[in-house]
Amino acid sequence: MTPPMGWNSWNTFAVHINEKLVMDMADVMVSSGMKDAGYIYLVLDDAWMAMERDPQGNLVADPEKFPHGIKVVSDYVHSKGLKFGLYNCAGTKTCAGYPGTRGYEYQDARNYAAWEVDYLKFDWCNTDGINAKEAYTTMSMALRKAGRPIIFSLCEWGNNKPWLWAAPVGELWRTTGDITGIYDGIKSYGNWHANGVMTIVDLQNGLQKYAGPGHWNDPDMLEVGNGMTPAEDRTHFSMWCMLAAPLISGNDLRKMSPQTTSILTDKELIAIDQDPMGAEGIKYSDKDSLETWARPLQGGDWAVCFLNRSLNAKKLSFDWAKESIMDSVANMTLDTHSAVYGLYDMWQKKTVGKTSAPFSATLPSHDVIVLRLKKAIAK
Ligand code: GLA
Repeated sequence: MTPPMGWNSWNTFAVHINEKLVMDMADVMVSSGMKDAGYIYLVLDDAWMAMERDPQGNLVADPEKFPHGIKVVSDYVHSKGLKFGLYNCAGTKTCAGYPGTRGYEYQDARNYAAWEVDYLKFDWCNTDGINAKEAYTTMSMALRKAGRPIIFSLCEWGNNKPWLWAAPVGELWRTTGDITGIYDGIKSYGNWHANGVMTIVDLQNGLQKYAGPGHWNDPDMLEVGNGMTPAEDRTHFSMWCMLAAPLISGNDLRKMSPQTTSILTDKELIAIDQDPMGAEGIKYSDKDSLETWARPLQGGDWAVCFLNRSLNAKKLSFDWAKESIMDSVANMTLDTHSAVYGLYDMWQKKTVGKTSAPFSATLPSHDVIVLRLKKAIAK
């Protein structure tokens, strides 16, 4: 019911995946503390399969990359207490040109169930002329018929507004084209482009009302540890938590720095992401590149995130008495008039004040301050 958490091969390894890599990654998901922090799904993205189906039409693993087949890999992942995911595509071929599922939905679903797959990411390349809602509904029905609970992750890039129809179809749906590890803007790759973190954040506007327990907007996998600055990584991670986004790490976990590990495994931030009420955060204000985001949490706490998008440090002063934060989707108001909240700085790990006085701070460029407002005392 909460946003799925895990690791996916694509952002770092693209088509260069194999059995040893998966096993190493499963090991390090456990030894690094990622599993304990909640990252449970290990998902193999595109290019795990052979270029052709077998004569019976079954998908088979690439014999060089996965010489012992997929079930062995799945068993290894499960032996570590993790869950196992695979990728395919609604079209005739995947985005990287491997066999797609179009016309083989029930057969592929039966194989996934037999391999004890727990998560399927389903892409949208080579789908000319087919109807997205119908194609994804067919695969969803095939998974259900296969009889194994499998998280269904729609990767349709938001082209056909899946937020309007996908809640009964799957657990999460991509809202945008692909992410890339830059803070803002668009990176061109010739015939396609990928989006920076802030570009994706901007595209979430208006989608809050479609997300909730068991059905999530997916602003794409994490690029934490993939080349941005520590402040930018903190911002990326904080915003994904504010947005109740699935947290699917996409870095090489074998080589992550202590700083990357501490960002990805921050239990207090993750608790915001995984809040059981499942209200996606809203943008409260936006002025001179300084944004304020808010998210109501179960039990009456709130998360408030100040975000500095400019290239310069910014002074911020936020007078709770003069502001009125309301989440019209969750229909909740932050009431700092009849109650006082303690301000807990989630990255600094300390209490920094109370809502009875204005909150002032200097926010470095491309950094965030995330406060958890803890209801302390009724006035
Ligand atoms: C698309 C998806 C990516 C990744 C690749 C694989 O671009 O959006 O997340 O799965 O395909 O080819």
